[in-house]
Amino acid sequence: MPIPEKFIQDLVDRSDIVDVVSSYVRLSKRSGANMFGLCPFHSEKTPSFSVSPDKQIYHCFGCGKGGGVISFIMEIENLSYPEAVAFLARRAGMQMPEETDSAEGRKRARMLALNKDAARWFHAQLSEPAGRAAVAYIQKRGISPAMVKNFGLGAAPDAWDSLLNAMLRKSYTENELFDAGLVKRGRQGGFYDAFRNRLMFPVIDVRGNVIGFSGRILGDGEPKYLNSPETLVFNKSRNLFALNLAKKSKSGYIILSEGNIDVVSLHQAGFDSAVASLGTSLTPEQARLISRYTGEVIIAYDGDGAGLKASQRAIGILEKLDIKVRVLRLTGAKDPDEYIKTKGPEAFRKLLEGSENQMDYRLRSIREKYDLTVTEQKSDYLREAVELLAKLPDEVRRQVYAMDLAHELGLPPDVIVNDVERRRKRIVNGAFRETQKQQARPEKLLQPTARELRYDDPASAAAEEGIVRLLYLEPSLIETRNLPPPEDFSAPGLGKIYAILCRRIRAGQSVSTDHLAGELSGDELGLLVSILQKPEILSKSRQSMADYIEKIAERKERRDGATDLLALQSQLKKKKGYEG
Ligand code: GTP
Ligand code: MN
Repeated sequence: MPIPEKFIQDLVDRSDIVDVVSSYVRLSKRSGANMFGLCPFHSEKTPSFSVSPDKQIYHCFGCGKGGGVISFIMEIENLSYPEAVAFLARRAGMQMPEETDSAEGRKRARMLALNKDAARWFHAQLSEPAGRAAVAYIQKRGISPAMVKNFGLGAAPDAWDSLLNAMLRKSYTENELFDAGLVKRGRQGGFYDAFRNRLMFPVIDVRGNVIGFSGRILGDGEPKYLNSPETLVFNKSRNLFALNLAKKSKSGYIILSEGNIDVVSLHQAGFDSAVASLGTSLTPEQARLISRYTGEVIIAYDGDGAGLKASQRAIGILEKLDIKVRVLRLTGAKDPDEYIKTKGPEAFRKLLEGSENQMDYRLRSIREKYDLTVTEQKSDYLREAVELLAKLPDEVRRQVYAMDLAHELGLPPDVIVNDVERRRKRIVNGAFRETQKQQARPEKLLQPTARELRYDDPASAAAEEGIVRLLYLEPSLIETRNLPPPEDFSAPGLGKIYAILCRRIRAGQSVSTDHLAGELSGDELGLLVSILQKPEILSKSRQSMADYIEKIAERKERRDGATDLLALQSQLKKKKGYEG
């Protein structure tokens, strides 16, 4: 069942962490042995993400994420451990040893097969009497047969068990259907179809797997859309509707819209790079996914207030990934579908060509908040606009915009340009100091970044970290006498890491972060890596080990003593009838 150790080792040897990380993060060399870049896992303006070519690990001082090359791929590509291994194996041109048939892997494969069969079945209903209402709705919305085929649209009949029965006949079980979100459980314990009387949109990931469904009501009514629940293979915040099609587009940009119908309509009109998020506003994971395929996004959200708000949020998220963002202004139509239906594809193309860049868009949004004929509001507008321009990394662009702003407000250009530059300097300096501060204190015991892993007894935790670090660096220290049992650790997270290290070392297995990535959570792995980064003098490892063991015992005694004392106290109180 598990992937052989030897294979993992070969794979890691052939997957240099700097190479792998570099295809996601721009790394540059600074002082010392480490490379630095902007952390891909949280948003920041100054680099606190470091990669160590010697240790082959990465670590972010800001968010605490860390690990080896495999966990990096797990995090950034959103893959399980075996999937990340397969991903790197493909990259390194290595043949996977026997496709891993773990229980989870089998379950996933089975669910994907079921989803595919269900999608085929929904699609086939369009040629059956049960699909007539959906066909009529497709016609009413003006969706062409080519698009029905392209998107694999289908019909969920107006019945309680037709998908259920069809899939049972294909020898899927009720539980499998339930886990995939295709049926629900009734009060009496029976199962019934989750999607009924709806136009079905399969959600297909970039690898071509049907991972879930979105079903639109045929006409008016609530809820308008029903989506698959989160399952083993479906995560709404990490996938986009139609990215499987859009990723093949030659347009050079991605059009981000809100509705499934908008996407279909856009593709039909020739805009084959349209995608939509799955009923949520754009998430950072989705943005990262997009950034794998394009450097430019055109936002085509609905023209209403909610759409505007969502655009603002999306801009912020996309910008952090260095994606160029433009925003379409839909006037005279509520959404892209209606725009194309009423004004035609040519008008939409013009709109695309004339779409505002995000800086113009944001300036306009700020401007619209103020009445520029009122002096006070004019200066508020100025202050907010200067703040925004100061964040532009490009000096020429900062100046061009500053001059425009001056012109608009009838102020001397150099005054505004200087204002922006002064503000810029302050931002840059502030960020620089922050990074320095963060890097100046690694000696001190820092609390883990993940809240659940916080230390209650920092003095003991420091020693526990020490043991973990030494065992990792020098596994032969497992022979040390009087090693404490993991339960004696004050920090459960460290106890878990310690227990796994002991077990693996005793079994003669490797303890590199790449092997541990399958057993530890992302937070735990991050903690381990941050522990490994702290200095340890290996020439004195035996002495240190003894000191750490003693410290842990001493702290444990004190903690136990404290609880005993408390117990004693309460016993006494009860006996003598003391008041608290
Ligand atoms: P039309 O109104 O027919 O143009 O549909 P649309 O696909 O453009 O949908 P709309 O603009 O109303 O909504 C945008 C997206 O939000 C949809 O594609 C869905 O993903 C999601 N959505 C809308 N209504 C619901 C709902 O009732 N429940 C859920 N879960 N998602 C919804
Ligand atoms: Mn819509």
